[in-house]
Amino acid sequence: MQTSFYKDEIIKLEAVITEITARLNVIRKYEKIYNDRDPIEYIKTRIKSEESMKEKLKRKNLEVNLENALSKVYDAAGIRIVCAYIDDVYAVVEKLKQYDDLIVIKEKDYIKDPKKNGYRSYHIIFSVPLSIAGIIQRVYVEIQIRTIAMDFWSSLEHEMKYKKNIKSQEIIVEELKRCANEIATTDINMMAIRNMINKC
Ligand code: GTP
Ligand code: MG
Repeated sequence: MQTSFYKDEIIKLEAVITEITARLNVIRKYEKIYNDRDPIEYIKTRIKSEESMKEKLKRKNLEVNLENALSKVYDAAGIRIVCAYIDDVYAVVEKLKQYDDLIVIKEKDYIKDPKKNGYRSYHIIFSVPLSIAGIIQRVYVEIQIRTIAMDFWSSLEHEMKYKKNIKSQEIIVEELKRCANEIATTDINMMAIRNMINKC
């Protein structure tokens, strides 16, 4: 299905996901041993579907071709990291940045500066060196890091976006915004409670 559009380049997209997942697994194991806890709850990965890649290229007024898909759009390969607490999100960002062969292309902290609709998440795009057939090639990957609560919210908000002719749209948008704020407060409170427990 995807291979028809990405052709053999699918190898690079799969490889960049494997590479980052492997590094994340090392971080998780190290933290478990030396800091007694894993900062990551779960990881989801995906290669952007042919359909949404074509849609995105058109939206960005780019010619729909494989070269643009891999060089002008940065999220053909995507990794979502879900953490329990906000400080884990920032800890994971720092750990990833410690790899000095990863180049930060773009970074957005939607936790510090949420989107108008209430969306919160930390986004970072890396250029990752891969050794393929004896040649070092750089491939982009978009990493989204967020809490379980933020992930829960995003899934529901995403569902709404893809439903057309939705009734009571305005109320739903308002309610989602209210929930996003409640979630943000709860995320902070949960972290404070955990810190109190840890101090005991
Ligand atoms: P695109 O939105 O992908 O064209 O790129 P951008 O440069 O605007 O990047 P941004 O960091 O804003 O968003 C990248 C990705 O984050 C999206 O493809 C979604 O997966 C996710 N995202 C961004 N905003 C929202 C949002 O309001 N709701 C949800 N559910 N997801 C979002
Ligand atoms: Mg966007």
